[in-house]
Amino acid sequence: MADRRQIQIATPSLGEEEWQALREPIQSGWLTQGPKVAAFEKAFAVRHGVKHASAVTSATTGLHLAFTALEIGPGDEVIVPAFTWVATANVVVYCGATPVFVDVDRVTFNIDPKDLARRVTPRTKVIIPVHLFGLCADIDAVRATIRPDIKIVEDAACAAGAAWRGRSAGALGDLGVFSFHPRKSITTGEGGMVTTNDDKLAERVKMLRNHGASVSEEERHHGPRPYLLPDFDLLGFNYRMTDLQGAVGLVQLGKLDKFIDERARMAARYRKELADLKWLRTPEEPMDGRHAWQAFVTYVDPATAPRSRNDMMEALQQHGISTRPGTHAVHMLGYYRKRYGLQPDDFPGARDCDRHSMAIPLHNRMSAEDQTYVIDALREF
Ligand SMILES: Cc1ncc(COP(=O)(O)O)c(C=O)c1O
Repeated sequence: MADRRQIQIATPSLGEEEWQALREPIQSGWLTQGPKVAAFEKAFAVRHGVKHASAVTSATTGLHLAFTALEIGPGDEVIVPAFTWVATANVVVYCGATPVFVDVDRVTFNIDPKDLARRVTPRTKVIIPVHLFGLCADIDAVRATIRPDIKIVEDAACAAGAAWRGRSAGALGDLGVFSFHPRKSITTGEGGMVTTNDDKLAERVKMLRNHGASVSEEERHHGPRPYLLPDFDLLGFNYRMTDLQGAVGLVQLGKLDKFIDERARMAARYRKELADLKWLRTPEEPMDGRHAWQAFVTYVDPATAPRSRNDMMEALQQHGISTRPGTHAVHMLGYYRKRYGLQPDDFPGARDCDRHSMAIPLHNRMSAEDQTYVIDALREF
């Protein structure tokens, strides 16, 4: 390999426009949830084809609000894919409900609909299809398998801009939750968005993120009756996004489609130039939808790979190329293993994805030369 490069697995893409967007809230002094958050929410709802979008501090808190709005609690079961970020399952536990894991498909990394039917019980209240790495879960298969009274909360943390059969992520279930963590395609530092077409759920989410207050800070501040404090009918939280984040989010959202198009082109190049490495499976563009390419996660076939995945990851690291396992199998993490008595083999798809998946660099600051460098390094094995 000629020149040695340093290529991150992900790097946020922010610039002069985001910097300029921060001026207004800083100069006006309105820093907490206010007009910038409102504008971001409105634009996000339009882009994702939903009636309501409510900004929050992260996808984790957004999921917490979603379950709280659905009144999920002790005795209820929530179906969670076993291969996902730990937060998806943690939030179920925050509510006192029981996470019931379902296995994932080794090709899509998403819920395996074939494993789903046997996980549904009379106590199942919600299922969380995760659109992992930006690929929408097969919602139609999920819907066909579950009872109609079971609610669907999409974990769309990785899926801003993704689509499934003509509909956007966030508009596929009863509620959808997005993340704006810096590893996602668009970022507000930390941040999240809860989407829904249900007026009542949207109202509950908006109240719950603001301590359960019946009147928002902005209404109270600008309203005609200064003596009026809100009533608090719900036990809420402070999960409000700041207007600084809202301002940045609005600019980032304007770049979302450009970012995804660039990522899709890079993904196509990876697929083409790595196609003859039979030991490395690369992710496909869906036939009937749009991948958001939050990450490019490959699968190293242990039977045919020239070296183990971990050996390769170490070697790539030495070349300055950072890689990561796609995510983890939550049922194999200490807390879940011990609390629910789970074994790795209980969910063999998730176990294998945990052991053999490998995300390689994909982000909007990568140059064509950076990508050549990654491709060459992989081809050297
Ligand atoms: C699938 C999934 N769900 C939830 C989360 C939590 O997102 P946040 O960091 O915004 O809380 C993440 C973040 O990595 C994720 O990948």
